[in-house]
Amino acid sequence: MITEFATLNPKCIDADVIAKAAEIIKNGGLVVFPTETVYGLGADATNASAAHKVYRAKGRPSDNPLIIHIASPADAERYTYTSDIYYLLANKFMPGPLTVILPSKDTIPLATRGGLDTVAVRCPENEIANALIAAAGVPICAPSANISGKPSPTSFEHVREDMDGRCDMIIDGGDCDFGLESTIVKISEDGSLVILRPGRITESDLLDAGFVVSVADAVTETLREGEVALSPGLKYKHYAPKSELVLIDGTLQDALEYISKNADDQTAVISYNEDLAAFESLSLDLYDFGSRDDLLTQAHRLFKILRDTDKKDYSRIYAPVPTSEGVGLALYNRMIRAAAHKIIKL
Ligand code: TXA
Ligand code: MG
Repeated sequence: MITEFATLNPKCIDADVIAKAAEIIKNGGLVVFPTETVYGLGADATNASAAHKVYRAKGRPSDNPLIIHIASPADAERYTYTSDIYYLLANKFMPGPLTVILPSKDTIPLATRGGLDTVAVRCPENEIANALIAAAGVPICAPSANISGKPSPTSFEHVREDMDGRCDMIIDGGDCDFGLESTIVKISEDGSLVILRPGRITESDLLDAGFVVSVADAVTETLREGEVALSPGLKYKHYAPKSELVLIDGTLQDALEYISKNADDQTAVISYNEDLAAFESLSLDLYDFGSRDDLLTQAHRLFKILRDTDKKDYSRIYAPVPTSEGVGLALYNRMIRAAAHKIIKL
C-alpha cells in the first residue's frame, strides 16, 4: 500500500488536507493523525471491515477493543448509553485526554469494540484530530499508531517508522503534547470511577472535581494467574524494550555505586537532568529524562527515549523509578511494565 504524507499546522489547518483525510475515513481507509496524547491509527468506527483493517495494520488481536473518538461529547448519544456521570466528566474534562467506558449501542459494530458490550469514548482536544473527526462525520476508532509491541508513537518520525505502507495517509502534526496515552475510566454501578489506565487526567484531578475514584489494581501490579483484566489491553504482553530495562529505587549516590559495579560497555542510563553530570564519570550512554520534578517533560520524553534505545544494542538500561504521585502514576505504570517489574531497591 502506498502511504500518502501530509503536514498540518494545528494553528492554521489546511481544510483541503482534512477533506481528503475525511474522504479516506468515509471510504473505509486508514489515516494516522496526531492527538494531544499519542498518534492514533484512525478508521470509521461504524464500519466493521475498516476496524478489522486497523487490527491487521497494527498486528493487534481483534479482541482488544478500540477507542472511538468523537468531535463533541454529546455525539456519544448516538453510539452509547450515556449517564449523568458521563456528562459531569465531559463538562469538566472534554475535549481532553480522558477516555470513558460506556455501554455500547448497536451503531458501533462488535468488531470495533472487540466483542464487548461496552465501548471506550474519547473527545480529543488536538485541533487536527477534532477537525478530522468533524469532517468525517463518523466517530473515528483509533488505537495508538504503533505496531503492536512497540511504544506508542509521539512524533511523525515514529509513525513513519511503524505505519509507512500500512495505512492510506499519515498526517504530520508535530510532536504530541503529552506523550503518554489517555486516562481510561470505567463508571461503576454506584457512580464511582475506576481508573483502568492512568494518564494526564490524574486521580486527584477527578477527586477535585467531586468524583469518587479508585485505581484498578492492574495499574500498579501484574495480573495473577486466572484473574480477569478489566480492560482487555491489560492482559496482553505490553511493550518490552529490546534490552533489559531495570528501574533503580535509591539515592543518586546508591545508584552510581550500583550501576558502576554492574555496568558493562553495553549499558545505558536514563537519568534526571540534574544527575547527568554525576553519571558522566561512568562513561556510559546517557539519556536525559528531564528535570526530577518535571513529570510532564518526562512523560513527553519517555516513549522517544525507549524508541531511541531500541535502535542500539544495549544489554541493559537503568532508569530511575518515577514517583507514582499525580501524573507520575502514568509514567510509573508504563515504566514498570516496560521493565517487567524489575525494580532494584537500594
Ligand atoms: O490516548 C489514547 O487513548 C490513544 C489516542 C490515539 O487516542 N489511544 C490509545 O488506544 O491509546 P489503544 O487502543 O492503544 O489503547 C486503548 C486501551 C486498550 O488497552 C484497550 O484494551 C482499552 O483501551 N479499551 C478499549 N475499549 C475498552 C472497553 N470497552 N473496556 C475496557 N477497556 C477498553
Ligand atoms: Mg496502544
